[in-house]
Amino acid sequence: MIFFMDLQMMLLDMIYFILRNSVRLVLRPRTKPIDGELVLITGAGGGLGRLFAQEFSKHGAEVVLWDINSSANEQTAKLVREQGGKVHTYTVDVTSREDVYQKAEQVRRDLGRHVTFLVNNAGVVAGKRLLDCPDDLVERTLKVNCHALFWQTVKAFLPHMKAQNHGHIVTIASVLGLFSTACVEDYCASKFAAVGFHESLAHELVAEQVEGVKTTLVCPYIVDTGMFEGCKIEEVELVLAPLEPQYCVEQAMNAILIDQPLVCIPRLTYLPVLFRLLPWESNVIAYRFMGSDKCMYPFIDS
Ligand SMILES: NC(=O)c1ccc[n+]([C@@H]2O[C@H](COP(=O)([O-])OP(=O)(O)OC[C@H]3O[C@@H](n4cnc5c(N)ncnc54)[C@H](O)[C@@H]3O)[C@@H](O)[C@H]2O)c1
Ligand SMILES: *[C@@H]1O[C@H](CO)[C@@H](O)[C@H](O)[C@H]1NC(C)=O
Repeated sequence: MIFFMDLQMMLLDMIYFILRNSVRLVLRPRTKPIDGELVLITGAGGGLGRLFAQEFSKHGAEVVLWDINSSANEQTAKLVREQGGKVHTYTVDVTSREDVYQKAEQVRRDLGRHVTFLVNNAGVVAGKRLLDCPDDLVERTLKVNCHALFWQTVKAFLPHMKAQNHGHIVTIASVLGLFSTACVEDYCASKFAAVGFHESLAHELVAEQVEGVKTTLVCPYIVDTGMFEGCKIEEVELVLAPLEPQYCVEQAMNAILIDQPLVCIPRLTYLPVLFRLLPWESNVIAYRFMGSDKCMYPFIDS
């Protein structure tokens, strides 16, 4: 009897969330205020990281910028300062556990407070055919895009967020963490791993009722930052052109500030995710039709 009552409750809740999210497509809920939050962004010297730093700062947050490239990171800091924001830079190699722990501690000592928002954004791609790719490049992709998430999130910053039951963990993965294509084995492996890591962590926080610590998984399609320079999907170029970095970051910010757990940018990319349920061969012919089977060729051959 209890089983059937629970089942009925669950189904009603499920319908509620489906309806609520459908309504949210049109009527955007109010965004949460983040002034006073301390936001740490990794890979802040890069295309998306820099824009995230500027956006978070515009919303009144204090930002801590991590990047392995000091000069690129300083340039981001300069832009944030020019718009009147509070900003701190650290040169960190996120593939080094020791470096991550040490700099995390240094941030806490320097600023006298804890990070409340973590944006795991640093990412790399080997950009070579698997059989031509030096092993250390493959390893680097997995270390930056996947392993670093463990040291940064769980070990360095999550304990305090959990203790306060307040915080937000954002993972910038990719649509290539949800479906794949040819010749980006290292990248897809690392981004599927990032998605798995993020979702498991999100489940853990809910299961432990740490509901004040929010999570957002961001999966963008190709963005025009130079990371995938040359990559081209001929048949869908018109409907699915590479995203403007600013558009991508604005869409991601909208999702983060309403505590949305997952966002694919643009929405059209939810479609191939659904297609994964079809037979593998149907996906192959759809890829061939769109030219997305060989879309990475110009990128890796350049
Ligand atoms: N550009 C795209 O097409 C695209 C699409 C989907 C997802 N993404 C993801 O978005 C994120 C940002 O990408 P982007 O386009 O801004 O890339 P980008 O190359 O412009 O910037 C990446 C930044 O990360 C830094 N970085 C690299 N290795 C590091 C390390 N070991 N330690 C610290 N910092 C390091 C780099 O110095 C650089 O400033 C990445 O995770 C990427 O995988 C990008
Ligand atoms: C660091 O960033 C600067 C400025 O964006 C760029 O010119 C340089 O090539 C980068 N260095 C490395 C090692 O990526």
